Amino acid sequence: MTGAIVKGTGILVAVLLLPTVALAQGDPAKGKEFYAKHCAGCHGPTGKGDGPAAKAINPKPNDFTNKAYMAGLKDQYLFDLIQKGGAAVGKSPLIPPFGSKMKDGEIRDLIAYLKTLAK
Ligand code: HEC
Repeated sequence: MTGAIVKGTGILVAVLLLPTVALAQGDPAKGKEFYAKHCAGCHGPTGKGDGPAAKAINPKPNDFTNKAYMAGLKDQYLFDLIQKGGAAVGKSPLIPPFGSKMKDGEIRDLIAYLKTLAK
């Protein structure tokens, strides 16, 4: 009887922990490489929106160092934006979709890195 309760508790704990593992935060150190490769051209090396390609485009790429603004962007929104591109979330179609170049985990790493840019 006691054994069954202990076993049952173990399963319950496992079920409660699962979503936590699935939603694990990305690794900003890994995200940094993707940022430099795929985003810095427009958003700038430090995220200020001053990359070499920014001059020629309108609207301008966002300033990722603007903490108040960035705090309003939900993780799921950022995920969709990066995976499906700007047009898919009603933003500039100049933001390319990266779904074919990046795995889900890599997108999460990138989102974690974006958050380190906000000052
Ligand atoms: C070709 C230039 C370009 C590239 C490359 C680019 N972006 Fe952007 N990004 C933009 C522009 C332009 C905007 C402003 C869009 C708007 O206001 O409609 C923007 C806006 C954003 C925003 C703010 C969206 C919002 O709701 O305000 C996020 C987040 C973002 N980009 C993330 C990224 C990430 C992450 C990458 C790299 C994977 C990336 N972008 C690559 C041009 C680019």
